[in-house]
Amino acid sequence: MTKNFAHRGFSGRYPENTMLAFQKAVETGVDGIELDVHLTKDGCPVIIHDETVNRTCGAEGRVGRLTLEELRELDASYLWRGQVGRNTIPTLREYCQMAAELPLVTNIELKTNICEYPGIEEKVLGLIREFRLEDRVIISSFNHYSVLRMRALAPELKYGLLSESWLVGAGKYVSDLGIPCYHPIYGNMTPAHVQELKQYGLEINTFTVNTEEDVRRLAGLGVDAVIGNYPDMAKRVLEQL
Ligand code: G3P
Ligand code: MG
Repeated sequence: MTKNFAHRGFSGRYPENTMLAFQKAVETGVDGIELDVHLTKDGCPVIIHDETVNRTCGAEGRVGRLTLEELRELDASYLWRGQVGRNTIPTLREYCQMAAELPLVTNIELKTNICEYPGIEEKVLGLIREFRLEDRVIISSFNHYSVLRMRALAPELKYGLLSESWLVGAGKYVSDLGIPCYHPIYGNMTPAHVQELKQYGLEINTFTVNTEEDVRRLAGLGVDAVIGNYPDMAKRVLEQL
């Protein structure tokens, strides 16, 4: 059965990439949680989507040029002000503490596609090992070099390559690199593409699937997971199939 992953936590109803959104995803009974990781100026892995704090925190500055202490003063619920209380930008450590107690899969997206964060792969790996999450993570990135760097450090973990493009020969490309998962944008998932990827034995986890119609269509095509902002809706639709 197609699995249900919460994109940036339960981000359709709560501030994305906050502990609140992760807890609400857990309460919804998701199979997995997707989150985005950057490094602070002082080298701490933190969970936020953008390279800057501008959109989600209503502040200014690049994540990589701010210290953890500076980031922790910001409100990651800025876009939800008046609706929910204050939420800090979580550290990956904080998330791992929660996930260590739970059976769900965590899809850690390394946000190394715009800014490179030297050492991010080692730091993320350190936390995965410290909290014994080795058998419950999928590491993905749009920066495929970043994925390969991390795999060189920890071949035992599961990896996925992200793509927003209509790649020709994606199945062969991913499979030749020895990566088991492909994480494409959902609009590219035609029956022919899914068939090609399946021929290479790849696990297909597709994003960002936010409507009932798309959940039904993609599950019907046999994708392995839908990653979306409304995991309550996806759960209901998947259970009806
Ligand atoms: O990992 C799937 C998805 O999160 C990739 O796109 O921009 O939402 O991080 P984005
Ligand atoms: Mg992401």
